[in-house]
Amino acid sequence: MATKKLLKQGELPKCWQDVKDALDAGIDRIVLFGTAGIGKTYAGLNYGNIEGGAHRLICTDDMTNAEVTGCWQPSASGSWSWLEGAGIRAWKGNGQTGGRLVIDEIDKAGGDVFATLLAITDTPDSAQWEHPATKEIIKPLNGFTVVMTTNIEDMEELPMALKDRFPVCIRINEPHPDALLRLSPDLREYAKQMCDAGERRISLRSFMAFDKLRSGVGAKRSAEMVFGKRAKSILDAIAIDKVKPIDDNDGKMAELANALAEQEAF
Ligand SMILES: Nc1ncnc2c1ncn2[C@@H]1O[C@H](COP(=O)(O)OP(=O)(O)O)[C@@H](O)[C@H]1O
Ligand SMILES: [Mg+2]
Repeated sequence: MATKKLLKQGELPKCWQDVKDALDAGIDRIVLFGTAGIGKTYAGLNYGNIEGGAHRLICTDDMTNAEVTGCWQPSASGSWSWLEGAGIRAWKGNGQTGGRLVIDEIDKAGGDVFATLLAITDTPDSAQWEHPATKEIIKPLNGFTVVMTTNIEDMEELPMALKDRFPVCIRINEPHPDALLRLSPDLREYAKQMCDAGERRISLRSFMAFDKLRSGVGAKRSAEMVFGKRAKSILDAIAIDKVKPIDDNDGKMAELANALAEQEAF
């Protein structure tokens, strides 16, 4: 496994620096892609300017346009009112500034919804929607931004129409330092390495669950409950990680040998 470069305090890993720079430069359409559970959705909902609020859509193959633009809903009095979907709510933002729309798992959207999403994420000059109840023409307010996320690795698999609208695609290959801070210190380095470790990957969510659970039931049971068959090897790796001096390969080998010897003595 490639050891990632040690970061100075306050320095961001490259992928997150790219996200920050793109948002700071006013890029308003961004795709974050890469492995699940690494922090793409969190970033979409929380980073950059979200003063107009953040709205999330999770695409599935059986979702409908109701989630994007809205649907009629019966009220207690028997009348019907229009319940706005996340796309329109994000267009309207806080009334002054457009909001952030986070479209998760974009590759899972079916044809009909996909077409609506293209319309919603179109350039602000061409995007508009007629409110079915008031017939008012609604347009995205200034400040409306979109972050799409997907677990697919090859951006070529995304339809051309979508790529046209989202020229900036950033592959996230490391958890954000803020996310690692939510873990106990002994888990951080290992979590960072394992979040994007292909088939062996362990998501941030698993580490968080393990961390929480071990304070109640102990590390061994917590590992068994969260990591299943891999519990033992993961516990071993965490123990080794805890003692290893970072970025010192010889030291690492020595610690590894010590830890293994200790285990055998058990
Ligand atoms: N920057 C961050 N700060 C704090 N918590 C984070 C951060 N990034 C991710 N998390 C947490 O890690 C977990 C996985 O993140 P998520 O955004 O859902 O991953 P993804 O969208 O890549 O599958 C969530 O519980 C989330 O709250
Ligand atoms: Mg997500």
